[in-house]
Amino acid sequence: MNELRMHPRFVSLEGGEGAGKTTVLNALRDALAADGSEVVCTREPGGTPLAEMIRKLLLDPGHEPAAPETELLLMFAARAQHVREVILPALARGAWVLCDRFTDSSHAYQGGGRGIDTALIDELERRVVGIRPALTLLLDLPVAQGRARAQGRDGTPDRIESEQDAFFERVRAAFLARALSFPERFRVLDASRPAERVAADAVGHLLAWRGGA
Ligand SMILES: Nc1ncnc2c1ncn2[C@@H]1O[C@H](COP(=O)(O)OP(=O)(O)O)[C@@H](O)[C@H]1O
Ligand SMILES: [Mg+2]
Repeated sequence: MNELRMHPRFVSLEGGEGAGKTTVLNALRDALAADGSEVVCTREPGGTPLAEMIRKLLLDPGHEPAAPETELLLMFAARAQHVREVILPALARGAWVLCDRFTDSSHAYQGGGRGIDTALIDELERRVVGIRPALTLLLDLPVAQGRARAQGRDGTPDRIESEQDAFFERVRAAFLARALSFPERFRVLDASRPAERVAADAVGHLLAWRGGA
């Protein structure tokens, strides 16, 4: 793989913890499936048995912290597997693919959050991933609100959720910078609104995209 393709039926959801990605993804799936289309919902890091094992390694707070470069390469190792095992086959048979996080999360977390050079992330994207969503919905939310929502969700925080607010402020800023750099691909949604409003907005963007694609 050596070039980057955009696929019109490949859509990603991005945003910080607790922004509502999983909630919105379910609404998007229902909207697309209404006419009988096949919709594959998947997530990163993970999405295949091997990639889910890499996810466990990445998020496990039990071992020493991963060096930023280790974290980056594990993310891309999982993504390489996910693309080949799940995303490309699904697109090839005509399905829609809705992905909870994709390469933009590496720019936000490993780039903005951990300070890895963007050029390295771009190079890995081009050489290892080779595909980019045609539409990316960014759920933007103040850090404190995201934290409160994620805390309400389930048990102990994982290794990334345990980071300080300053880390998540950099993540949020990096996501917004990505959106500014790729205005045709991104739609930025104010995720502080009630879940039904955010979901309705997201569905509107997706159906408008499908209608025009
Ligand atoms: N717009 C919203 N307003 C209030 N609570 C929300 C909203 N969207 C999601 N939630 C709740 O916040 C928590 C995190 O949402 P989730 O969809 O799991 O976020 P993410 O997948 O982005 O981490 C869940 O308990 C969910 O029900
Ligand atoms: Mg989620």
